[in-house]
Order: sequence, then C-alpha cells, then structure tokens
Amino acid sequence: MTVRTMSKSPTAANSRPPEGKSGREQLIELLNGDLRREYQAIIAYVVYSQVMKGAAYMNVAAELEKHAGEELQHAIIIAKQIDYLGGRPAVDPMPVHPSGDAQEMLRLDLDNETETIRHYRQRVRQCEELGEFAVAEHIRDILMDEQDHQIALATALGIEVPNVSNESEPAGGDWHTAKPTG
Ligand SMILES: [Fe+2]
Ligand SMILES: [Fe+2]
Repeated sequence: MTVRTMSKSPTAANSRPPEGKSGREQLIELLNGDLRREYQAIIAYVVYSQVMKGAAYMNVAAELEKHAGEELQHAIIIAKQIDYLGGRPAVDPMPVHPSGDAQEMLRLDLDNETETIRHYRQRVRQCEELGEFAVAEHIRDILMDEQDHQIALATALGIEVPNVSNESEPAGGDWHTAKPTG
C-alpha cells in the first residue's frame, strides 16, 4: 500500500496543470497571452515614440522607437514557439491605453514591461518543467531585452527599477488558474 504524503512540495503542487488539459496545451495558451502582450508593446512603442514631444524627450522617444523593433522580433519568436508546439498564434493585442502625456506614457510602458517580465520568468520555469528547454532558452533571451527595456524606462522616469525577483508568479495566477478556451 502506497500512501503519498511526503513527496508533494508546495511548488510542485502549485505548478501542476489542471486536470483535463495537458501541460503543453496550457503552455500554448499562456504563450498566446505573451504574444498578445508583445503585440501590445509593439503598438504602444510605435505610437508613444511618435507622439512624445519636447526637447527633453527626444532621446527617450528614439529609445522607444528602438524598443518597437525589438518587440516585433519577440512577437515573431513567440509565434514560432506556439506553432512549434502545435498551437495557433493569437491575432489580437492586449489593449493599449491612449495617452499624450510623456510621463504617463513612460509609466504605462514600464508597468507593462514589469508585467511582461513577471510572465516570462514564470514561463521559463513552466517550459523547463515540461522539458521544453529550447523554448525556455528563447524566452530567456527575450527576458534579457525586456529587462533592458525596464531599466531604460525606469531611468527615463528617474525611479528605481521595479524588483520582481522575489515574486513567484504573475498577479492573478497563471499556470494553474488559466482558463480553457473553446
Ligand atoms: Fe517583448
Ligand atoms: Fe519590452
């Protein structure tokens, strides 16, 4: 008779996918959320870099324009991973907040980058748990860019870079709470 009482660490219990849905299916769904955040970032950086006015923001606007191109590369990489896993890449972006105020635009971008980093940190762990080491590696590369973006934005705002290293999961849950689609 086998009674399992010791083998379940809280981490393993939390990261187990819900019943009725394979880990791979759930990973595809979560990567589609990441892809929608990349689309959001592309749109925000394209628009904000062009509407940001004033001598004080010239260099910052140029930096945002550079971010737009990097976010496009991320979107392509994530879409490729979704396709590789047998999923269908999403076509709709997460919503972009319209703004004409430079400080607000920078703050919105920073908040989105921080949220994106939270998700990608979790995604690396999930990919490794599923043995998808190459996908994890691609996401690590993207994470380096996102952290650079986060630093650039925090510097432009003159504030500390938000620290997410002690957080284990994105706000609102992720791995074990994602809802099935159709
Ligand atoms: Fe990105
Ligand atoms: Fe970014």
